[in-house]
Amino acid sequence: MSEPILTATNLKRHYEVKGGFMKPNAIVRALDGASFTLTPGKTLAVVGESGSGKSTLARVVTMIEAPTDGELIIGGRKIGPEGASRDRDLRAMVQIVFQDPYGSLNPRQTIGQTLMEPLLLNRPEIGAAEREKRAREMLGMVGLRPEHFERYPHMFSGGQRQRVAVARALMLEPKILVLDEPVSALDLSIQSQVLNLLMDLQERMDLAYLFISHDLSVVRHLADEVLVLYLGQPVEIGPKEQIFEHPRHPYTKALLSATPVADPLMRKERIKLKGELPSPMNKPEGCSFNPRCWRRLDICTTVEPELQGHGHCYACHNPVPEDETAAA
Ligand SMILES: Nc1ncnc2c1ncn2[C@@H]1O[C@H](COP(=O)(O)OP(=O)(O)OP(=O)(O)O)[C@@H](O)[C@H]1O
Ligand SMILES: [Mg+2]
Repeated sequence: MSEPILTATNLKRHYEVKGGFMKPNAIVRALDGASFTLTPGKTLAVVGESGSGKSTLARVVTMIEAPTDGELIIGGRKIGPEGASRDRDLRAMVQIVFQDPYGSLNPRQTIGQTLMEPLLLNRPEIGAAEREKRAREMLGMVGLRPEHFERYPHMFSGGQRQRVAVARALMLEPKILVLDEPVSALDLSIQSQVLNLLMDLQERMDLAYLFISHDLSVVRHLADEVLVLYLGQPVEIGPKEQIFEHPRHPYTKALLSATPVADPLMRKERIKLKGELPSPMNKPEGCSFNPRCWRRLDICTTVEPELQGHGHCYACHNPVPEDETAAA
């Protein structure tokens, strides 16, 4: 197994929001202490409800925003709260693909210009002919045709646009690709094509993926490891098989129980979560999940559980018993 290319330790991103008339400013703890590693050729999937901090994590890892606390080490270089690095080579190492294939491409640029732009801006030493050659090669790598080079984004389908977005992200030969819901906006039939392309590119280029998705069937397809976020904090992290077959955190189990299974004969008890996700501005005492948890004990309302374990870790005072998770 290769060495990690990225190590995050207790990574946090808080936002201060104005409280309004006579009200103090409040702190939104969007990302509140995440630790994980990314490894070449491997995929860490991040799952969690809307508002759990997935995109915030994506922005911090991509150095679009600096962490407010904790440590991020990318390729041996430390990125701390003092600010995102201006170092071009470091920034080129991590690239991102967003969910919206319609908003992410400049409508006035041809696909060729879109692909060549990162080189023009970051690698001015590369001449025009070489720039075009690399862009054309990349077009082929993502399964588009040579004649697409001169076309404009409006002539493309959502799936094709997402291929262009992936190609553009790869132009600077990054080591890490952050994928924030990259197929959620696409038709189901197109999703698997784009996912297969991503898996193929990962293998060819030995890329480390941080793959954000709320769709657990997609995660099951391509993750190596899974991190479950709740209110900005990892509540469970581990190898995919462990997370899917033996989830120990009640929240993970609830998430899994809500996803349809391929085999209709496989019976599954469905756990319905009580209430809404609380605000990251006003987190519950003790375990943040306790107001919605069906396994809550007294201690859960006062003491925050630590993430514990080796390889497969979970932060829970009353985890789901292992034999029970196997049967579900
Ligand atoms: N710039 C900001 N200022 C204040 N609050 C923010 C800011 N960015 C994000 N938040 C808050 O942080 C929390 C996490 O947001 P984030 O976008 O990371 O969630 P998410 O998991 O990506 O959600 P979704 O699945 O809907 O994309 C939310 O409560 C959000 O309102
Ligand atoms: Mg998001």
